[in-house]
Amino acid sequence: MSKLDIAIAGEINLDLILDGLPEHMPMERELLATDFTITLGSSSAILAHNLAALGSRVGFVTKVGDDAFGALAVERLRERGVDLARVAQGTKSGVTLILPHGPQRHILTYPGTISELRLEDIDFEYLASARHFHMSSLFLQRELLPHVPEVFRRMKSAGLTTSLDTNDDPEDRWDRILEDILPHVDILLPNEREAMKISGAADLETALSRLAQKVETVVVKLGASGAVAIRDGRRFSAPAVPVTVVDPVGAGDSFDAGFLHQFLRGADLATCVTYGNLCGAFSTTDHGGTEAFRDAARMQEFLAEGRRTERRSTVNPGRL
Ligand SMILES: Nc1ncnc2c1ncn2[C@@H]1O[C@H](COP(=O)(O)OP(=O)(O)OP(=O)(O)O)[C@@H](O)[C@H]1O
Ligand SMILES: [Mg+2]
Repeated sequence: MSKLDIAIAGEINLDLILDGLPEHMPMERELLATDFTITLGSSSAILAHNLAALGSRVGFVTKVGDDAFGALAVERLRERGVDLARVAQGTKSGVTLILPHGPQRHILTYPGTISELRLEDIDFEYLASARHFHMSSLFLQRELLPHVPEVFRRMKSAGLTTSLDTNDDPEDRWDRILEDILPHVDILLPNEREAMKISGAADLETALSRLAQKVETVVVKLGASGAVAIRDGRRFSAPAVPVTVVDPVGAGDSFDAGFLHQFLRGADLATCVTYGNLCGAFSTTDHGGTEAFRDAARMQEFLAEGRRTERRSTVNPGRL
C-alpha cells in the first residue's frame, strides 16, 4: 500500500433528502415530496470522499451498518479510491432525513453505527501510516469520545500532523474533554458559532485570540462571508466565492477538504484558505455534500476557473 496522505476516523451514513414537503406536516396524511436525493452524508465521510476526489490519498476508519444503506455508503467512498482496509462492521446503519423548506430544514437522524466506533476498532499502526490524522463530528462519537485525547496524543507522538472539525455538539454541552484534545491538534476548523462555543467567547475576535493561544492554526468558516485563519500571530481572511447555492449541506466539510488538500501539499496558509473557500462554494452547487464532487469534469472546470480568477486578482490588485 502506498503511504496515505491522511487518515480519517469517524462516522458514515446516507442522507435522504425530500424536497417540497410542507413545513407543517399533519398526521395521517400522505404528504408528497417533489424531489428525492439519496446521497453520502456525515461530515467525516463527506470529507474523505471530497479529499479523495481532489487527489489526496485517504484512509477512512469507520463502523458501517450491515445493510444495504451501509453497502451503498461504502461504495460511494470506494468509487473515489478511498482506502477502506480498516472499516469495522456494525449492525444497523444510521441515517439522516433532510426536509428542506426554503432556507430552513427539518433534519432527523437515527444514529445507528454513527456513534458506535470504539477504541478497539482503531488500528493505530494503520492510522500512523498516514502523514496526517483528522477527526470530524467529535460529539457524535459517543463511544470513542473519552479516548479521543489519547488517539490524538498517539498520532502526534507518531510524528503525524493533526486536525479537528468538532462540528456542532447536539447537546450543546461542549464537553471539557476538548481541553485535553486541543494540545494535540495542529489545525482547528470550526465555524463561527462553534469557535465561540469552544472558547466560551461572546464574539468572533475574542474566540480567535483565545483559540490561537491553544492551537497553532485556527481556521474559522464564515458561511457566505468566506473564512478567516490565524497562524503564528499572522491573520489571513478571504471572501467566499460567489455561486448560485442549490444546497449548503456539507459546505463546511468541503471547505475542510480543500484546505487540507493544499496543506498536505505544503501550500501556504493563504492558498489553503482560498482553496477551502473554492471547495466549500463548489459543494453548494449540487445536492448534499458530495454530489458536486462526483462529477470530476465539472469539479476540475470549477476549480480551474476559480484559480484563474484568483490569479487575475493578484496580477491586478485593483480588481476585487
Ligand atoms: N452561500 C455561500 N456562498 C459561497 N460559499 C459558501 C456559501 N456558504 C458556505 N460557503 C463556503 O463554505 C464554507 C463552509 O461553510 P459554513 O461556514 O457554512 O461551514 P459549516 O457551518 O461548518 O458547514 P456544515 O454545516 O457543512 O458543517 C464557507 O467558509 C465558504 O467558503
Ligand atoms: Mg461544520
